[in-house]
Amino acid sequence: MELLILILYILLSITLVRALLSLLRRSKPGRPKLPPGPVPLPVIGSLLKLGDKPHKSLAELAKIYGPIMSLKLGQKTTVVISSPALAKEILQKQDLAFSTRSIPNAVHAHDHHKYSTVWLPVTNQWRSLRKALNSNIFSGNRLDASQNLRRQKVQELIEYIGKCCQEGVAVDIGSAVFKTSLNLLSNTIFSIDMADPTQDSVQQFRHLVWRTVKEMGKPNLVDYFPILDKIDPQGIRRRVKSHFEDTFEMFGRLIDERLELRRSGKSGAENDVTDILLNISEENGEINRTHIEHLCLDIFGAGTDTTSSSVEWAMAELLCTPETLQKAKAELVQTIGKGKPIEESDIPRLPYLQAIVKEIMRLHPPAPLLVPRTVETDVEVYGYTVPQGAQVLVNAWAIGHDPSVWANPTSFMPERFLDSDIDIRGRDFELIPFGAGRRICPGLSLAIRVVPLMLGSLINSFDWKLEGGIKPEELDMDDKFGLTVQKAQPLRVVPFRV
Ligand code: HEM
Repeated sequence: MELLILILYILLSITLVRALLSLLRRSKPGRPKLPPGPVPLPVIGSLLKLGDKPHKSLAELAKIYGPIMSLKLGQKTTVVISSPALAKEILQKQDLAFSTRSIPNAVHAHDHHKYSTVWLPVTNQWRSLRKALNSNIFSGNRLDASQNLRRQKVQELIEYIGKCCQEGVAVDIGSAVFKTSLNLLSNTIFSIDMADPTQDSVQQFRHLVWRTVKEMGKPNLVDYFPILDKIDPQGIRRRVKSHFEDTFEMFGRLIDERLELRRSGKSGAENDVTDILLNISEENGEINRTHIEHLCLDIFGAGTDTTSSSVEWAMAELLCTPETLQKAKAELVQTIGKGKPIEESDIPRLPYLQAIVKEIMRLHPPAPLLVPRTVETDVEVYGYTVPQGAQVLVNAWAIGHDPSVWANPTSFMPERFLDSDIDIRGRDFELIPFGAGRRICPGLSLAIRVVPLMLGSLINSFDWKLEGGIKPEELDMDDKFGLTVQKAQPLRVVPFRV
């Protein structure tokens, strides 16, 4: 307690001195002009304004202070972007200046920030890792070649739900799809299922990913008061470190096994991501074993929760609007055939299903504030200065809910995309769930295959009822903010064979 009071006292003194200095600086003419924003309280700045749903609170604040605003969050200056024009300025026109990440404290565990594609600045090392991802893992050819694997995993999901159907039990959609996403990625990387409930170690891995994602999504005092770095008062970095340790131990074992296979001449049959990365590391040394382990962590961390929460939100919105669900079903019956499996190659012939996915990414972008960026020098934007070291957040959620951009922005209306060219690939700044510019999500090409594939298969294979006789209008659609934005209450539904 005494330690806490001492810390607060030190923080208060530092903040007061800084506030005084900044007032003095602001009063001098010709000084950099910060974007407008709320007047900060001593020590905590505007932290209390964030609440537990920062994407929504920041959208409200943007209505007062405009599409570029600055807030003092603890010790950290944060600039928030909330319009398509400004997002274009940051993510496209001045892309390079804004391409460095603002690194959360937890990511320093195991020096992850020094090896990770997500957190490295734009350096040659980052370029090599992105190249490995773009050309060797997520390229159209590679994804075409791995279609079978995804077909099989989605089939297993449908079989699992078929069993629930026979037994008349409800399915937790988010959890079932999370497991499928995890197995999809673990097969892409290591050619094994890592979410098989019959095996203890892999079962553990599923919980490990879940726990890591949860821990990293918690608001961390150190991110607002870097002075607390050594203390790690909530223990978040310590717990993340322990999760990373377990994860790297598991990856290390799998890589060792593969190296052994390759030495014994039995390699190459898998030709999965492990093999591809080991080949690259042997050929040019740009990527070493540590990079491979951290890259795997990035892929699981960034690729599971995002995909599963999109499918869960889509199912929830469809169950709330039965007429939309009927339209989606009708399209599938007409194009694919009732109850038949869907192929990735069918997706271009399913415009309504694609419109549903876009509408979900508008209403419920899994990363509503994208992944935070920073600037290494002062940067001018629309007459304001984004000061060196400021954290920069692009509020994709606010842009997706802006009534001056979207008619009836809070309504789920996939039809709005039927006669529209707006896409989610980072060209149209009204809709940027995957970000844009050089740091755009590299998993986009995989996600836009997997999300409609899983969703379409769930819709075409079963009829659905909400558990416990809940009526569509009674379904709790509240969200909770974390590393990704999830449904606050898991969606539980009872399947019926169509
Ligand atoms: C619905 C699914 C997904 C969504 C909505 C999503 C969203 C995002 C967003 C918003 C960013 C930050 C972009 C920016 O700063 O401009 C990002 C980065 C990233 N995503 Fe995704 N993502 C998804 C799926 C995936 C998948 C499946 C993978 C890999 C298997 C993946 C891997 C990554 C990586 C490695 C980065 C960091 C890129 C960098 O900083 O250079 N994502 N994602």
